[in-house]
Amino acid sequence: MKIYKAKDYTDMSRKAANIISALIILKENCVLGLATGSSPKETYRLLVERYKAGDLDFSGVTSINLDEYRGLAPDNDQSYRYFMDTNLFNHININAENTHVPNGLEQDSILECARYEELIRKLGGIDLQLLGLGHNGHIGFNEPAEVFTADTHCVDLSESTIEANKRFFDSADDVPRQAYTMGIKTIMQARRILMIVSGDSKAQIVKQAFFGPITPRVPASILQLHNNVTLVGDEAALSLL
Ligand code: F6R
Repeated sequence: MKIYKAKDYTDMSRKAANIISALIILKENCVLGLATGSSPKETYRLLVERYKAGDLDFSGVTSINLDEYRGLAPDNDQSYRYFMDTNLFNHININAENTHVPNGLEQDSILECARYEELIRKLGGIDLQLLGLGHNGHIGFNEPAEVFTADTHCVDLSESTIEANKRFFDSADDVPRQAYTMGIKTIMQARRILMIVSGDSKAQIVKQAFFGPITPRVPASILQLHNNVTLVGDEAALSLL
């Protein structure tokens, strides 16, 4: 595992944007696995900036997102599709048809999860999967559990995740209770993992995930078994390593 220590959130984002830019330049038809949340926002802004400066071309890029709330329409401003459109896709020359997010409106979860797995397979797998880290160690919406769930699946969100995400909704009651997420195997099959973490509230879980026991109680701990992981964190998030 490579660990890059950044000064702060801005520096973390710059380093992450550098790594993603390098991939896009070297492999113009790459498949990027993307995440939502606070962690990648500035990274996406920098990618947009570089596209506008003429330094990046997304016309051959395909994206596939980790997860989506079940029940939210793409135009709901809390959906992950909306987040991706407004923070990245609408501002770059990626072909909209090549941007993939689980369909939150598909009621048949077995069908949707199978479709998503098949889609990733048809795309030839994920070249780089960008990940944030939940305070409870989740990646995507793979919550702490007794076992790792391998494939894309529908999950019941944990209380701590509902609590953490309610800041984006009018109240905790409005946070959807379920989500579609890539599974642990889906994530582990990405050829490269790029995790970004910032802030002292993540320090403890970063230490547990990367230097603690590998356990489904800390889903990110499985990344210790991946052979190409880059962790980019700011000083606060890496302070306990
Ligand atoms: C988002 C996702 C989540 C977040 C995690 C960290 O698509 O899959 O696992 O990466 O909850 O969220 P932030 O970055 O908001 O701290």
